[in-house]
Amino acid sequence: MDLPAAHGARARVVVLVSGTGSNMVALADAAARGQVAADVVAVVSDVADAPALARATERGIPAIAVPFDRTDRGAWEARLADAVAAQDADLVVLAGFMRILSGAFLARWPDRVVNVHPSLLPAFRGADAVGDALAAGVDVTGVSVHLVDELVDHGPILAQEPVPVLPGDTRETLLARLHEVEHRLLPRCVDELARDLDHPASTHERSTP
Ligand code: GRF
Repeated sequence: MDLPAAHGARARVVVLVSGTGSNMVALADAAARGQVAADVVAVVSDVADAPALARATERGIPAIAVPFDRTDRGAWEARLADAVAAQDADLVVLAGFMRILSGAFLARWPDRVVNVHPSLLPAFRGADAVGDALAAGVDVTGVSVHLVDELVDHGPILAQEPVPVLPGDTRETLLARLHEVEHRLLPRCVDELARDLDHPASTHERSTP
């Protein structure tokens, strides 16, 4: 087994995905460029044909499907947790992962599960934050990166950045502007968390809502 991150090794990150995986790509590519003090060691999806899995394979990153099973959610989540644990994960990153994780999963990586969400939380929690922001007619939305607790899109905020909603914005144009920020903010937060694993006493920009 590798040395744990607390003993000087690079942090091992497992990314959970359900869809296209642009955030996974941004994180993995930033790590490969040496801009993140961690390695993406596996990508795991609840969707067998998620495009993110192919994008991981293209990058030489192990891509693992643990297809969601609605008939036995507990057993599915246990398989998911075992797949992550088998990678010796120090950090778990949810990057467009569309399932809610229970306390049993989170207890295996306390304060080490991170989510990226396209709103300024606590505004617009849930699966359609971009559509909800457009429907609400707000001038500003944004991106949040946070530690995950048992509630949806909830937990201590690691970083937030506002993004303007411009006249005539569609879901696609607004999402593109949000993605630009996500792809910068998520790697930065993972880098900070990875460095904290190595130096637990260090401080970094972190606030609690
Ligand atoms: C991102 O907007 C993320 O904030 C949200 O789901 C989307 C995933 O996009 N949780 P991608 O799969 O990373 O492209």
